[in-house]
Amino acid sequence: MTTVTLRRPDDWHVHLRDGAALGAVVKFTAERFGRAIVMPNLKPPIATVELARGYRDRILAALPQNSRFEPLLTLYLTNDTTPQEIDRARAAGFIHGVKLYPAGATTHSDAGVTDIAKVSGVLARMENIGMPLLVHGESPHPDVDVFDRETHFIDAVLQPLLGRFPGLRVVFEHITTARAVEFVAGARAGVAATITPQHLLHNRNAIFSGGIRPHYYCLPILKREGDRQALLGAATGGTPRFFLGTDSAPHERATKESACGCAGMFTAHAALELYAEAFESVGRLDRLEGFASCFGADFYRLPRHDDTITLVKESWVPPQVYDFGHGALVPYRGGEPVAWRIADSRAA
Ligand code: DOR
Ligand code: ZN
Repeated sequence: MTTVTLRRPDDWHVHLRDGAALGAVVKFTAERFGRAIVMPNLKPPIATVELARGYRDRILAALPQNSRFEPLLTLYLTNDTTPQEIDRARAAGFIHGVKLYPAGATTHSDAGVTDIAKVSGVLARMENIGMPLLVHGESPHPDVDVFDRETHFIDAVLQPLLGRFPGLRVVFEHITTARAVEFVAGARAGVAATITPQHLLHNRNAIFSGGIRPHYYCLPILKREGDRQALLGAATGGTPRFFLGTDSAPHERATKESACGCAGMFTAHAALELYAEAFESVGRLDRLEGFASCFGADFYRLPRHDDTITLVKESWVPPQVYDFGHGALVPYRGGEPVAWRIADSRAA
């Protein structure tokens, strides 16, 4: 197969940042995807509907002319979030999920939830009105091995949470382990997961090949080859519970290439193309459309798009550096070939 035409896809998990950085990166997402679930981990966090409204306006203002891209906003859950704020979020119409960061788990998560019991009232309201909870599923405790944080979280937090709120709709974000695949596949109705391109294409050796490679450092961290294989099986298996979420997370170069570098890989410039590589590697390009363009929309109860995008198998080389507003951004695969390119985008 040398071309693939898909219904336009959506990115169900992306970091667009703010200010000049937003202006530098949003076009990459908007060129490929019709909509994206935008993460709220700014400084200060997008913890209220009013902050989300302002952020949405800034995203819309930063889009290329004539773009039809639609940002889907999320609220950052804190210990102090109220059920009334959830009602306001629903009424606003542009907020499609509430993000749970366990405090300390990742970039800008210090305002996150310190104990899930503190947000019971909010979760009950979300369960009532059908507002999805988007979960960064890692236990942040320093005594839990970094490679076991996702598994620990499943047992310590997620499993009990799904039992306590049996109607709560949950997206287990950027899953990275065979255990998470098995857990989501066997979970009750209303549970789904997103999978990133880097976790489909790499195992943890990528972080250490020939030296330490900070541009392969993201959270949850890359895992073992067996985990990668399980993720590839889930993504390409045709099961509606697994769908596309890039977790593209740009950071300025100096903050990555540092003695204490930030977590996050920037993949938005080639996101769909990278998924095509992963699906082709197991001969399942025929399943890319479901994963990229259908299952996420269905989960979020939004219409599938009617326009299409075409990928062609022609290699291209992303630049080693993009402008990041103030400073430089090192993209994933910069200076190295990507096997697929976008050939055509067509209105319905
Ligand atoms: O690698 C990551 N980067 N993981 C996250 O959960 C956050 C993200 C970011 O915002 O940079
Ligand atoms: Zn993320």
